[in-house]
Amino acid sequence: MGSEPQQLTLTDMSETTGKAAAEKRIEELRRKLDRHNYLYYVLDRPEITDPEYDMLYRELVSLEERHPELITPGSPTQRIGAAPVKEFQSVRHPSRMYSLDNVFDENELKAWEERLYRQSDATPGTIDYVAELKIDGLAVSLIYENGKLVRGATRGDGMTGEDITSNIRTINSIPMSLPTPGAPGRPGDIPRRMEVRGEVFMPVESFLKLNEEQQLKGEKEFANPRNAGAGTVRQLDPRITASRNLDAFFYSLSILEGPGERVPRTQWESLELLSDLGFKINPGRAHCKDLNAVLDFIRHWDTHRKDLNFATDGAVIKVNSLGLQDVLGYTAKSPRWAAAWKYPPEIRETRVIEIEHSVGRTGVITPVAIMEPVNLSGTTVQRASLHNFDELEAKDVRKGDTVKVHKAAEIIPEVLEVVLSKRPSDARRELRPETCPICGTPTTKIGDEVALRCPNRTGCPAQQRNRLEHWVSKSAMDIDGIGPSLLEQLLDKGLVSSPADLYRLTMDDFMGLERMGEKSAENAVKAIEASKTRPLSSLINALGIRHVGKETAILLANAFPGIDELAEATLEKLTEIEGVGPQVAESIQVYFADLEHRNLIHELKELGVNTVQQPSAEDESIPKIFEGQTFVLTGTLPTLKRAEAEALIRKRGGKTSGSVSKKTDFVLAGEEAGSKYVKAQELGVKIISEEEFLSMIS
Ligand code: IVH
Repeated sequence: MGSEPQQLTLTDMSETTGKAAAEKRIEELRRKLDRHNYLYYVLDRPEITDPEYDMLYRELVSLEERHPELITPGSPTQRIGAAPVKEFQSVRHPSRMYSLDNVFDENELKAWEERLYRQSDATPGTIDYVAELKIDGLAVSLIYENGKLVRGATRGDGMTGEDITSNIRTINSIPMSLPTPGAPGRPGDIPRRMEVRGEVFMPVESFLKLNEEQQLKGEKEFANPRNAGAGTVRQLDPRITASRNLDAFFYSLSILEGPGERVPRTQWESLELLSDLGFKINPGRAHCKDLNAVLDFIRHWDTHRKDLNFATDGAVIKVNSLGLQDVLGYTAKSPRWAAAWKYPPEIRETRVIEIEHSVGRTGVITPVAIMEPVNLSGTTVQRASLHNFDELEAKDVRKGDTVKVHKAAEIIPEVLEVVLSKRPSDARRELRPETCPICGTPTTKIGDEVALRCPNRTGCPAQQRNRLEHWVSKSAMDIDGIGPSLLEQLLDKGLVSSPADLYRLTMDDFMGLERMGEKSAENAVKAIEASKTRPLSSLINALGIRHVGKETAILLANAFPGIDELAEATLEKLTEIEGVGPQVAESIQVYFADLEHRNLIHELKELGVNTVQQPSAEDESIPKIFEGQTFVLTGTLPTLKRAEAEALIRKRGGKTSGSVSKKTDFVLAGEEAGSKYVKAQELGVKIISEEEFLSMIS
């Protein structure tokens, strides 16, 4: 290019000073964010407000966007957004990950202790223990090198597990880096290489929310937090893992390469060190001087475990002295120095009064057992979902039957089995409904799905109500104050039937309803008005496209500038988005092919509902260097995902297009670039690599 050499030097210089300052600020922001993250997620004792945290975070994001070369895997911004993988790599554990032997009662626990004394030369009465609640999650191993998290792996078969580092990074309570030398309260030198082990789990609250979303999406619910957690930690797309709020407790630490200033000599000291290093440790723990103290711990938590925000299936009792643990060693399968106490599951009998057929938002009909109230694991239970008619038939639950119920993972009421000896002689097999219990339309099944559906999407009052409930819900359009009972009244009065109707409601409409004063009417109208400016992802989620929940909606909103582009997207374009498979893509096309849905979008637009991706304040501050320019992307880029590259272009004023023409300014080509690359060469369009692209924007 024709610029003067002198000018070049000047630009270079200001760039270096700018860069040095940015680097310093980036470091500072990362340290601050790590600390506040720890205060919030590990200690549950935040020192700044969420908006204050967001401000620091956004500043870091925008600095890193300007200097992508300064991004490191340990940056707080890198917890989310790593590229999805096709499969996980296998990794070998530094030492075997064992399982535990169970004990079921006091006698078995005493027998275990007797063996401890026989197998060691410990003086009778001298062994102390650590009792910890047994977390019903997934065992993981994390490796830190020079204080940085470098690897996270599942237990696998004990010798080799799967590399799930990207997913582990999304767990906010897990430190990405350990306290740096010189930091106040730093627990001595951190070993060059160390391994920590613990349990990743899905908190009960996240679990209930996830299942609610699965149900809204018309997808299978998870049986318990353990399964949900396992499914989440093994997600190939870390963005999905990130959205599901996993958590983790750690219980062991081993120094693989020294030095370490503080070397724990007991399990209790290990827990203290882990905690000082910033790891979250099990709140259900006790240092017990003897087996009686262990039994007290077990009894205490048998009643209190129901109130915890995580699922536990027992307690783990460990010999406290690590030296004695070494002497005792391992059997083929488990350590001799530990035992798992299993709480017996709580099972009750009750009688089925009715089998209700409930109709969901997408028309799925679910059989639900309505039972005589029974007290189970701390609450009164009278409903249990039978999930679908295949399951109902397999369990052969009938009206009038006596059934055994329990709570899966202490949370979800579940019918285990029918007590056949108590079946009344007139109990008849349940039939699949041939028509919708609400609107009477003949039911259908789609493809090989297990679900039975009411196909009357727009006319079925149950579906209307559930659709509107979803529309106003928090993760969709978040219309505060329009709850189920208000919706019910609006539906009954015929004031609304589709989401668009909400935006036509007036003060008078509300004032005509029960228990509605001027103030509440005004609030309702305001809340509806406010929902018009929700981000594109909320709208996409609110539409209730089958298989598209909150998570997929975010992926879609990032990939398209607005709802029109999404509606027009080809299958190819949709499946190019990581995290969007053929089933989801097809479902999106089916949705937008429906004239009724197109009309809804049209109406919403007319009524002033936002249907485009709004640039954020930060985006606005990015210089629009690609104004008026068109890019075509082809092939696989080495680090950027396609949607990310497109977003980087859009935020700088550029456009992206699917095909190369004379009007194309740049073809951004990665590996295995095909015909678009050839076409660009033919037309003489400038072809750039990711590296060149990144240097253009930095
Ligand atoms: S100590 C040699 N402590 O239970 C294994 N394990 O059934 C030592 N678990 O694979 C494990 N909570 O994933 C230990 N507080 C706790 C635990 C715990 C859950 C899991 C762990 C292990 C499994 C064995």
